[in-house]
Amino acid sequence: MAVRGNFSSKLGFIAAAAGSAVGLGNIWGFPYEAGAGGGAIFVLVYLFFCFALCFPVMLTELAIGRKSGRNAVGAFNALGHRKWNFIGKLGVLSGVLILSFYNVIAGWAFGYTFEMAAGNFAITESFRAYTTDIFAVGGYGLMFMICTAFIVSKGVSAGIEKAAKILMPLLIVMMLSLIIYALFLPNAMAGIKFFLLPDFTKLNLSVVFNAMGQAFFSLSLGMGTFITYGSYINKKDNLVTSAALITLTDVGIAIIAGLMIFPLIGFVSGGTLSGVGRGPELIFVTLPYIFGEIGGSAGSIVGMAFFSLLCFAALTSTVSLLEVPVAYVVDEFKMSRKKAAWLMSGIVYLIGIPSLLGNGYSAYFSEFITYVNVTTSTDFLNFIVNVANDSFLPLGGSLMVFFAAHIWKKQNLDAEIAIGFEGYQDSFIRKYLQFVIPFLLPATLFIIFAMIVLVTFFGF
Ligand code: TRP
Repeated sequence: MAVRGNFSSKLGFIAAAAGSAVGLGNIWGFPYEAGAGGGAIFVLVYLFFCFALCFPVMLTELAIGRKSGRNAVGAFNALGHRKWNFIGKLGVLSGVLILSFYNVIAGWAFGYTFEMAAGNFAITESFRAYTTDIFAVGGYGLMFMICTAFIVSKGVSAGIEKAAKILMPLLIVMMLSLIIYALFLPNAMAGIKFFLLPDFTKLNLSVVFNAMGQAFFSLSLGMGTFITYGSYINKKDNLVTSAALITLTDVGIAIIAGLMIFPLIGFVSGGTLSGVGRGPELIFVTLPYIFGEIGGSAGSIVGMAFFSLLCFAALTSTVSLLEVPVAYVVDEFKMSRKKAAWLMSGIVYLIGIPSLLGNGYSAYFSEFITYVNVTTSTDFLNFIVNVANDSFLPLGGSLMVFFAAHIWKKQNLDAEIAIGFEGYQDSFIRKYLQFVIPFLLPATLFIIFAMIVLVTFFGF
């Protein structure tokens, strides 16, 4: 069998797992989803999903991974349930699809690092022109994919763990400083209110769907990332505290990103919060504008630092996305890690081309008709987000939990979670898990999944 990687320490695992979770999903995705979903009400629903439902999914994935010591597909075989390994295959497919569009956005962020360095703050006025320049953005995307493939080809390495331990705190410090700067700008409070004071009249099904998809995406759940990472951890580790730490870090950084962006939107829009791009362009338009306000070489330095740290956060996430399909072919097809990493990343890059073209370059992919009721169109990137994030991840998560509770059996799940956790038997968390895992969690997720499919694809 090909050599499997291992984390050098518990902290290494936490850093890598938190690195997977923290990425564009928090800093690019969360503010734009919150902006589109009515602000604070979206945040509330999102928090509910993260803690009440996604946290048990994360524990389940970690337990399956550690018990089996295998990749997302092989784990099911190793536990003696080969028939159920389609869940892992769905995960591998989700990973490939997510990485395909994720890399496009990472490519934008990478390109922005150079634009900021060059003092090109005017880029805010023509973001569309920027994404339409596909040779440039495609090239940056290619470089980004190569970095990802290179790291994954080296194995779950100490290098990325070490870098994560230094650069992630730096990113947090940088965002906290930007929050302080933003809070003193005129009309900042309008943004803060929108982000923190829920308007319950804005609650509707689409808010619930998007918040759920966002929670899974941001926490890297539902496709076997944590099965794969769990397979590299130690029997002595406490899964519950690890999962709690990862969840808190991830949610914390999303909230920090919101606190950074919304006052800026308040400022840029003169307090109306309208007229500011709320879609995927959000951070690519609002932030450079602010860096331009700071102006001169200070603005360039801040802008460059911000986007390079963002790229780093994205890189620890793309690594984890690529790791899932790579671990699968390494374990199951006995391919060398190096070959698997380059092959998979090549495939993913090609699959990402429509997402790249769908931001202005190709009219067909920019207004991709996907729905059965053919009245609405969306760009291809958003289409993949609907399919992979909002549908496959919750579906994968509910299937995994269902599998763990009823096929693998909840006593086994319980026993695996207990290892490394003294006092688990009488803990509150055990009672909670016993309550949600058998039926409530898989059923809730499944019902919502079914509704998403009906609404999104059949226009109900
Ligand atoms: N969670 C990452 C982010 O927020 C993206 C990511 C990495 C991911 N691995 C994943 C999403 C696995 C879903 C599944 O940017």
